[in-house]
Amino acid sequence: MLNKKIENAINKQINAELWSAYLYLSMSAYFESINLGGFANWMRVQAQEEVGHAMRFYNHVIERRGRVTVSAITAPPMHWKSPLNAFEDAFKHEQKVTGMINDIVTMAAAEKDHATVNMLQWFIAEQVEEELSTNTFVQKLKMISTNTGGLYMLDRELSQRKTK
Ligand SMILES: [Fe+2]
Ligand SMILES: [Fe+2]
Repeated sequence: MLNKKIENAINKQINAELWSAYLYLSMSAYFESINLGGFANWMRVQAQEEVGHAMRFYNHVIERRGRVTVSAITAPPMHWKSPLNAFEDAFKHEQKVTGMINDIVTMAAAEKDHATVNMLQWFIAEQVEEELSTNTFVQKLKMISTNTGGLYMLDRELSQRKTK
């Protein structure tokens, strides 16, 4: 069984992962609006991945005989100054999510809920990947700066990302 404290924290995280999906969907729509279809594709795939994260937490609550509670998802930002600005926000957001995951690990360890600590190991590894990928694009976009040829090439690279 899940204790109430852990159950509440995971329910909050389900909401946060779905908010992440909403953020990346909004970024995808932004990239569509500036005709960067490859960037839009990458963000669309990322949004789907975030729904997958929410479902991992959902399944954990169900498997532990807890109670999933869903709550309102607030609207994410809709406009960014540039592709770089959007990826800077994505990187910042992933750092914040890493902090949230770490806090639940700390709480679950204090409550001696080793099953939850174990489930969260997957997320600890995933957050390393999320921070690395968003930061890599921040660095690439800084390198490209105002070079439209570089932006065109990166857009082609990002068009290759597929749903796992
Ligand atoms: Fe996530
Ligand atoms: Fe990922």
